[in-house]
Amino acid sequence: MVDLLDYAIVPAGPGDAADLARVHVKSWRETYPGHLPQTYLNGMRPSAHARRFYRDLMRASPGEVVLLAESAEGPVGYASGARLKAETRPADSEVFTLYVLKAAQKAGLGRALLNSAARVFQADGARSLMLRVLSSNRKARGFYEHLGGEAFAEVPSQGWGGGLTEIAYRWGDIARLTK
Ligand SMILES: CC(C)(COP(=O)(O)OP(=O)(O)OC[C@H]1O[C@@H](n2cnc3c(N)ncnc32)[C@H](O)[C@@H]1OP(=O)(O)O)[C@@H](O)C(=O)NCCC(=O)NCCS
Repeated sequence: MVDLLDYAIVPAGPGDAADLARVHVKSWRETYPGHLPQTYLNGMRPSAHARRFYRDLMRASPGEVVLLAESAEGPVGYASGARLKAETRPADSEVFTLYVLKAAQKAGLGRALLNSAARVFQADGARSLMLRVLSSNRKARGFYEHLGGEAFAEVPSQGWGGGLTEIAYRWGDIARLTK
């Protein structure tokens, strides 16, 4: 387990693509057995995800955020998200991904990553934040509820051959996360 004082949260750029991919693949393999098809998890290739991260970060738009959490042992988590400008959206910012490796969990890092992303959005004028989580991911749902997220919708998850649902959470006042 890492100590809160032993990590840094930094904005990620294209040069971090390989680190992001390693954390992404490891975290999915730790988190999603029993939730997503095991054949997909087994077949995840860090090199393919590194290319995706590199491409996305090379053409990132203003308002998009990727944060990497690093400990003395190396990268242990990341979060990504963006401002949502459309007035029809249920919130004006969204966290797309939030992952902390098992060995670094329960040290405050998940909260720190979510708070840091929220602070970046708030500084850009955001007032609210939403995210979606697999409805079967009870652990993450407990975490979001503990931090004040309110479930407001159940939506079918795209991909995976259908049948999965996601729960959408909202913080109507983003300051709940940033204070
Ligand atoms: C969910 C996740 C991000 C939480 O990160 P974490 O670093 O373990 O959590 P933290 O240590 O920051 O916890 C912050 C607070 O939430 C609480 N908490 C954490 N998990 C909780 C849970 N399942 N239920 C209730 N509260 C929880 C902690 O007790 C802590 O409370 P406190 O500081 O008020 O005492 C992390 O476990 C993770 O990455 N899981 C695997 C990937 C995943 O499911 N990601 C979400 C995909 S949408």
